Order: sequence, then structure tokens, then C-alpha cells
Amino acid sequence: MSDIEVRTAQADEYDALQGVFGAAMMFEASPNELGQQLFEPERALVATDGAEIIGTTRALTRDLSVPGGVVPAAHVTGVGVMATYRRRGVMSGLIGRQLREVPEAIAVLWASEPAIYGRFGYGAAAWGTAYEVDLHRVGPPTGPIRPGELGELTADDALKELPQLLLRLQEQRAGVSGRSELRWQKHLEDKPDDRGGRTALRILVHRDEAGSVDGYALWRGKMVWNPTGPAYEVLVEELVAPAPTAYRVLWQHLLTMDLSAKLSYGYAAIDEPLVQLVSTPTALDRRVSESLWLRITDVQRALEQRRYAVPLDVVLDVTDDLIAANTGRFRLTADGSSVTCSRTEDPADLSVSIRELGATYLGGRPLAEFATTGRVTEHTPGTLDQATAALRCPLAPVSLEVF
Ligand SMILES: CC(C)(COP(=O)(O)OP(=O)(O)OC[C@H]1O[C@@H](n2cnc3c(N)ncnc32)[C@H](O)[C@@H]1OP(=O)(O)O)[C@@H](O)C(=O)NCCC(=O)NCCS
Repeated sequence: MSDIEVRTAQADEYDALQGVFGAAMMFEASPNELGQQLFEPERALVATDGAEIIGTTRALTRDLSVPGGVVPAAHVTGVGVMATYRRRGVMSGLIGRQLREVPEAIAVLWASEPAIYGRFGYGAAAWGTAYEVDLHRVGPPTGPIRPGELGELTADDALKELPQLLLRLQEQRAGVSGRSELRWQKHLEDKPDDRGGRTALRILVHRDEAGSVDGYALWRGKMVWNPTGPAYEVLVEELVAPAPTAYRVLWQHLLTMDLSAKLSYGYAAIDEPLVQLVSTPTALDRRVSESLWLRITDVQRALEQRRYAVPLDVVLDVTDDLIAANTGRFRLTADGSSVTCSRTEDPADLSVSIRELGATYLGGRPLAEFATTGRVTEHTPGTLDQATAALRCPLAPVSLEVF
């Protein structure tokens, strides 16, 4: 790192940052007006060698649902280092500074490879499930569909109808990232060059008996003809339906599209209810992987800004190699909406690293899981069970998009 400096990006450097990130991720960065408008230069860091930018990382200002609420979370993206500068500590310099500087108490990201971010104190806080559904075998959900219950929206109408459903999902599950109006526009942008041989984006909606939209699916089709006949593919990009009937009817429709042989969906929760609705769950062909990684940057604030499932009173001995202020003993007490986390000299009940605290923060992974491999140590019998129960949530967290 001797000749390499890290500094904040400038407003006119969006294309340069995209160019470096594109080169690192092997995609051709193309002009992107909405991406440019969403660019927050003051939250982007660049590593430079002389005048040349050779590494980048960015943080987006967004909120995230956590157990009991919605809080600010730095959404980290655009991490890339030019291949000619790899393995010289450039990413470490960028990520270390970013984590020490972000104002939010938590940071989240999707990792290109799971081996990268644990060393920086990120823990895998949500599992994602990807489906490759064999439509000939699955035995889709069944049940009546009322006339007029399903319909399609234009992107302009969707911008008015869909945001409130995402807000409702944030109330049901942790891990859901909020979207500003501009970000919704980007989400529904659907540039022809980005379709990869698939149809334009279809915005399917479900309406309740009063005619209000209470669920939606964003999907595309792909025409595939085999020598034996049609084998179309249905690619679901997002499905949000907090109401049970909407959830069933949307899936029923998508899993029974004419001419289709396969459906794929990459953003299901690990406890996705679809498994309950089909007669042959193995035909969903589920693959599980890490989705959202979470890093606690301020232990006290982070632990105070979420809620706990049962009353709790424990002293945590936290280790954090990057952020000294997170290291030490903290007493966490919670009873309903009253939560306090403060430094203490009292002896520790549990020892835990910042990585495990991050992994359990969204309520999807039991703290006790990490005691079985020695990554959490219980000093006071009973406190591991108590903390595990308090941190858990009824439904697993879900992250709907790679940002
Ligand atoms: C991943 C990437 C950002 C790493 O940048 P870098 O400057 O080479 O990383 P560093 O030199 O700071 O590496 C720090 C440590 O992480 C390890 N590491 C880096 N990339 C890794 C990877 N892909 N898998 C596993 N470990 C990795 C290094 O070996 C090093 O370990 P050490 O400290 O034990 O020696 C860079 O290789 C890159 O741009 N890759 C392609 C794009 C990408 O995947 N970006 C991440 C998007 S989420």
C-alpha cells in the first residue's frame, strides 16, 4: 500500500468508479443516468496510485428492517480492486476506513464470495434460497382465483402501488432494504440492453376484494423450444405479498404459465412459505447460500436499536479487531420496548466476537449455533439459552435484492 492513498470520491468520478468496479467484476459499465443520480460521492472511497483510481468501495444511504423496527444501515457496494493491484491490501485499506467512518450503527452487503468479508467482522445474517423449479413435477398451489383478482401494472402505476407493500414486508421480516422513490425507479427501469434475451419486465399484481393491490410479482419470460416442444422459462425477480391469499394466487399463476417447463427465483427466504403450498417440495430444487452480511459498527447503538423476543439481562464480552470502541464488556438488558446497552466492569456471561453478533443480529441465526464451534463462550450457565431466545425472530430475515 506504500504509494497507494485512500480518499473520498468526487462528484464527477461516478464513471471512473463504475469503470474500476466493472473491470474488477468483469462487466462492461455503461452510461447509467439513474445510477449517477443515486451516486453519493461523499460516501464513496477510492484508492489511488498517483492520478489513477485502482480500487473502490461505496456506501448507500438506505434503511433496513431489523427485529422490532426499521433502522439506517450503510448498504456497502461497489467493492473492487483492479486485478493488477490485487492482494496488496488495497481492499483492506478501503473497507477498514469505511467501517470506521460510516455513521450508521450497522453496515450490510452481499458478498461476491463468502470467504472475503468475515475477516472484517461481517457475519452472514440471512440465508437466501434460490429455486430452479421443475414445473412438470411441482404440483403448484391450488385454489380459486376470482375474476379481476390478478392484473398487470405499468411501471408508472407500479411506482404508486408497490412501495407500500415493501413497507409491509419490512414489518413482517428483518433484512428487507428500504427503497427511496428514485431507487424504485431504478428497480423498475428495465433497460432493453439488460434483458439478456428475456421479455420486458412484467408487473403482476393481486387485488383484494376491495380492489386494493395487496401483492405483486416482478417477472420475465424466456422462449425456449426443445426438439420435443416448448420449454419456456419463467424468471421471477421479486415477489412481495404480505397477504396470504395474494401470496398463494401469485405463485399459483406463475407456476402454471402455459408452455413453461422451468421457473427460477433467487430471493426466497430460508423459511419461504411456498414450500407449504406445493405438493412436491423437492421439485422446487432449493439451493441455500449466504445472502445479507451484516457488520456492527457501533455495538451500543446497534444493540439498543433492535427489539428482543424475551426479557434479557446479560453481560457480553465483545472482541473487535477493527473498531476499538466495540471491544470490551457491555450489559444488555431488554424488557419489551425498553432496551439499554452500556459499558460495564461486571464479569462476562458470554464472550462473543463482533462477527457472531452481526450474524445473529437479524434474528435468523441462533447464537447457540456458534457455541458449538467455540466462537461463542458461555461463562454463566443459562445465559446462552436466554440470549439465543431473545435474539431470535419468528420469521427468518430475507434480502430481496443484490445492491
Ligand atoms: C475481492 C477484492 C476486492 C480483494 O481486493 P484485494 O485488494 O486483493 O484484497 P486485500 O489484498 O486487501 O486482501 C485482504 C485479505 O483478503 C483475502 N482475500 C481477498 N480476496 C479474496 C477472495 N476473493 N477470496 C478469499 N480471500 C480473499 C486476501 O487473501 C487477504 O488475506 P490475508 O490478509 O490473509 O493475506 C478484489 O480481488 C476484487 O476486486 N475482486 C473481484 C471483484 C469482487 O469480487 N469484489 C467484491 C464484491 S462484493
